[in-house]
Amino acid sequence: MIILSGASGGVGKEIIKHLLKMDDVIGIYNSSHPAAPTGNGLVYEKVDIGKPAGIKSFVKKWGHRLSKITLIHGAAVKIDGLSANYTEADWDKVMRVNLKGNFLLTQALLPHMLRERWGRIIHFSSLGGMQGGPGTIAYSASKTGLIGMSRVLAKEYARFNITSNVLAIGYFEVGLFNALNNDEKKKILNKIPSKKLGGISNIANAVEFLMKSDYVNGAIINIDGGAD
Ligand SMILES: NC(=O)c1ccc[n+]([C@@H]2O[C@H](COP(=O)([O-])OP(=O)(O)OC[C@H]3O[C@@H](n4cnc5c(N)ncnc54)[C@H](OP(=O)(O)O)[C@@H]3O)[C@@H](O)[C@H]2O)c1
Repeated sequence: MIILSGASGGVGKEIIKHLLKMDDVIGIYNSSHPAAPTGNGLVYEKVDIGKPAGIKSFVKKWGHRLSKITLIHGAAVKIDGLSANYTEADWDKVMRVNLKGNFLLTQALLPHMLRERWGRIIHFSSLGGMQGGPGTIAYSASKTGLIGMSRVLAKEYARFNITSNVLAIGYFEVGLFNALNNDEKKKILNKIPSKKLGGISNIANAVEFLMKSDYVNGAIINIDGGAD
């Protein structure tokens, strides 16, 4: 069973059809129900991953039906602003989803993975975030923080055949990229050797590779077209 958070986002909506070729999918959304029809192995669940109570009822509802969990953390919030003026409220909103949400959802599902001695945890980090783009203080900190979280999980649970890895995603013509202005988009394209944005199948291929691999653990896989 694949559990994908961020199923209603730009990447989530596109990747689902690829994931359904690999396993059944529970797509987690928060405020916007995805348009794609459910059925044929796909269901959607509304869960605010920043709230332990929501996660608890999700696990209570699904717990006994979950097996061979691949947990893909796609949900994220990005609120930009220069550091000097960045508000504490915005910082908290970003961290609540991007770091705390990942942690809470992982923690709630770990007992199921441990019971089966099988689990795959995949975090979506961001190339831009890891490079520290100006105006992205909280987003960048959260996306770099995920690497620490993933490495801890990799070490704590490897002996239970549970792996944790990070996909460091470059620039894709969906979701968060579309929020940039034309100047920013142009600058980004200039940093990519092929001058093109990524296709979602690249992310799906990496997910499939990680699902099939029990010795790729604590890794960061760059999917960025070789961008600087
Ligand atoms: N697009 C890119 O080019 C790119 C580049 C680098 C990295 N990434 C990474 O790839 C992932 C997906 O990006 P995207 O472009 O698809 O982002 P997006 O279009 O902004 O989608 C964000 C997703 O996060 C969900 N979400 C936000 N708050 C939530 C909460 N409290 N509880 C549960 N879900 C919540 C949203 O759900 P609702 O809309 O239902 O609220 C939505 O499905 C992110 O982790 C991002 O950092 C993307």
